Amino acid sequence: MSAAFASPKFPILAKCPSGLEQVLASELEALGAEEIEPQLRAVAFRGDRRMLYAANYHCRTALRILLPFSRFTIATESDLYTQVKAIRWEEYFSASDTFAIDSTLLNSVYTHSHYASQRTKDAIADRFRDRTGKRPSVNIEDPDFRINLHMSRNEVTLSFDSSGTSLHRRGYHVANAEAPLSEVLAAGMVLLSGWDGQTNFIDPMCGSGTLLTEAAMIAMNLPAGYFRESFGFMKWKDFSKELWEDILNEALDNQQDIECIIRGSDISAKNLEAAAANLKAARLHKDVELEVMSFQKVVPPPPPGVVITNPPYGEKIRVEDINALYKELGNAFKRNFSGYRAWVISSDQQALKLIGLKPGKKFTLFNGPLECRYAGYDLYEGSRREFLTSNLPGRTNP
Ligand SMILES: C[S@@+](CC[C@H](N)C(=O)[O-])C[C@H]1O[C@@H](n2cnc3c(N)ncnc32)[C@H](O)[C@@H]1O
Repeated sequence: MSAAFASPKFPILAKCPSGLEQVLASELEALGAEEIEPQLRAVAFRGDRRMLYAANYHCRTALRILLPFSRFTIATESDLYTQVKAIRWEEYFSASDTFAIDSTLLNSVYTHSHYASQRTKDAIADRFRDRTGKRPSVNIEDPDFRINLHMSRNEVTLSFDSSGTSLHRRGYHVANAEAPLSEVLAAGMVLLSGWDGQTNFIDPMCGSGTLLTEAAMIAMNLPAGYFRESFGFMKWKDFSKELWEDILNEALDNQQDIECIIRGSDISAKNLEAAAANLKAARLHKDVELEVMSFQKVVPPPPPGVVITNPPYGEKIRVEDINALYKELGNAFKRNFSGYRAWVISSDQQALKLIGLKPGKKFTLFNGPLECRYAGYDLYEGSRREFLTSNLPGRTNP
C-alpha cells in the first residue's frame, strides 16, 4: 500500500458497533494512537504501520481497521466508474489476486450499495483487462484484497480493509448455542462495565460462553486476535513479517495469569457443552469454571465481583414467562449477589424494569439488529434487605 503509507503516520479508521465508539477510542489511546476522533460507529485516528497491525491484533471492540487511500467527489453515477478506473490499482495488487468491494452509502447519488459495489468492481477489473489482458476475479468470502467504498452524498472514500474478515471472528468460536452474542459486543460489554480482571466474574446464563471467553482474554491480557490465523494486511505487497512478529512477541511478554474466579452457568447442558468447546478452542477451559444450573440457584464467590449476563429476550418465549424470568433475575441479584455489580443486556425494556432495581448506568447497544439497553446495577447490602422485607408474607414485590 505504498501510496497510503507514504507518510510515517497516516489516517486510519476503525469501525465498531454503535455504542462502543468511546470504548474503542480508549483502546486505541492505550495503544498509542494519535488524533483520536470518535465518529458514528467508527473512530478515526492517526498511526504508523505498527499501529495499523497492532489495532487489528489488540482492539477488542473494532470490527474492521480501514486505511483510506482515495477521496473524490462524483456528480453522476457514471463518475464513480471513471474515477475508480483512473486509480493505479496495479500498484497495489495484481490480476491474479482476488478482490471484493464492501459499500456503505449515506444519502448518495447511488441508492443501492450492491450496485455501487458492482460498478466499482467493473472499473477495477476493466482497468486490469485494458492493461494486462486479464481481469482479477471477485471472491466475496475470502478475497486477497478487500476494498471499502464509503459514499456520503457525493463524497467517495475508498479504503483498503486491513482486517480481511471481520474482527469479531476471533478464531475460537467453534460451537454454537442459541442466540450467541457477537464477540465484539461481548468484549464491549465487559469493558463498558469497567471490570479489569482483578475481581470475580460471573455469567449465570452463559450460553456458548462468549462473555466468559472475552472476560478471560481480558484478564489474561490475551490480544483479541490471538487465535486468528490471518489478517487482510498480511496479503499486502509491503507486509512486514518482522514488524508483525515484534508485535506478537511484545504481546506474549505482556500475558498474565488469571487471579480471579471466572464462572459461568446455564440451565441448558447442551449450551454449556458449546461453552466448554469454545473455551477449549481458546485454551481457557482450565481458567473458567462451568456448571449446569438455573440462575436462581447460583451462589457466587464472595464479592467484589461483577455479574454480566445476556438473558433470553423473549422472541421465542411467552410474555408471562419472560416477565417471570426477569423478576426472578432481580430477586436472585438482591438475594445472592450483595456486594456485586450486575449488568444485564436486553432488547425488552419492559422486562428489564421487572428486575426491580434502579440502574446506576445505562447504555444503548445493538445485538445484531435489535436495539438493546445495557443496564448496570449496584447490589448493596440494602438491596438484600429490600428483597427480604418485600418477600415477607402479605407484601408484594416492587
Ligand atoms: C441469549 S442466550 C445467552 C447467549 C450467550 N450470551 C452467548 O453468547 O452464547 C440465553 C441463555 O439463557 C439460558 N437460560 C434461560 N433460562 C435460564 C435459567 N433459568 N437459568 C440459567 N440459564 C437460563 C438459556 O439456556 C440460554 O443459553
